[in-house]
Amino acid sequence: MTIILAIETSCDETSAAIIKDGNTILSNIVATQMESHARFGGVVPEIASRHHVETMTVVIEEAMETAQVVYSDLTAIAVTEGPGLVGALLVGIHAAKAIAFAHELPIIGVHHIAGHIYANQLVSPLKFPLLALVASGGHTELVLMKKDGQFEVIGQTRDDAVGEAYDKAARAMGLPYPGGPNVEKLANSTEDDIELPRSWLEKDSFDFSFSGLKSAVLNRLNNDNQRGEETNLAALARGFQNSVVEVLTGKTVRAQEKFGVKQVILAGGVAANKGLRDALSVAFEEKNIELLIPPMHLCTDNAAMIGACAHSMWTYGHRGNLAMNGRPGMTLNSFN
Ligand code: KG4
Ligand code: ZN
Repeated sequence: MTIILAIETSCDETSAAIIKDGNTILSNIVATQMESHARFGGVVPEIASRHHVETMTVVIEEAMETAQVVYSDLTAIAVTEGPGLVGALLVGIHAAKAIAFAHELPIIGVHHIAGHIYANQLVSPLKFPLLALVASGGHTELVLMKKDGQFEVIGQTRDDAVGEAYDKAARAMGLPYPGGPNVEKLANSTEDDIELPRSWLEKDSFDFSFSGLKSAVLNRLNNDNQRGEETNLAALARGFQNSVVEVLTGKTVRAQEKFGVKQVILAGGVAANKGLRDALSVAFEEKNIELLIPPMHLCTDNAAMIGACAHSMWTYGHRGNLAMNGRPGMTLNSFN
């Protein structure tokens, strides 16, 4: 049996979890800072770091108490090593190193995106080869996994992440942060849609680009404004939502076909988007391909997903050391 204490502080969530055997959550405590950042319309790195410092210890204690474990029960400490905001990452890493040093425990550094993918292991066993669509405020990636611990990034965004595009479009339309849920809500309030471009890029590419779509929203608002016309914001939101969902679903389906995978995973905060969930469900149901979408609390940033991934890394012999540092631009390397 392994019992891992996992810590995640890469962005604006301070989280600690206790994970048993890589697939059972004994506790998963998440303290969100959303309200502190909302009035700035996005995450402010310095504020994020300060909040992590204030809440880290309390969150770890609560995770240990809820799971009813003590330090001597732990097999290892896992922590998000990157990518993310460097100041935010460092708070979690220093907490992890302090505990590892004080209790003579091994430490495992986990890649944040690998964590998002392994969140699914807390719900259902992963079946390889699989394809993961990771869509969040910081990432938009299609990752092929031929086996456990092996990652091939087959496509990624060339500019904005999809959640970031939602947040920026929302801001331009005067909607509050985080933009994703608000854009989706507005989009669902109408049947009208303002047609916006689809960014398919080159015919064979699995890469994404969302900055053109964001600009199309800004241009429409500016043009209407200059003509003294009022923009139908709901129709604009719907046009935006339709473009995003069509491109994400289209590329995921094409990748599934090309690589012949039997299981597809959706991960990251944008997995909350019902339009996206429904479009993927319909597409893969027709083809009889298993689609895994974790429950919302495991889609957004949390430490349980870091613990799930760390368990796999542990079984393949990965151990970090106390020289670990935050790696804001860390690449997704295979660990098996
Ligand atoms: O994974 P996450 O919690 O944090 C990052 O690692 O980025 O994702 C947050 C992102 C935000 O950009 C937010 O606007 C987006 O997920 N999001 C959504 C929805 N709910 C959250 N985007 C579209 N539709 C939603 N319903
Ligand atoms: Zn994330």
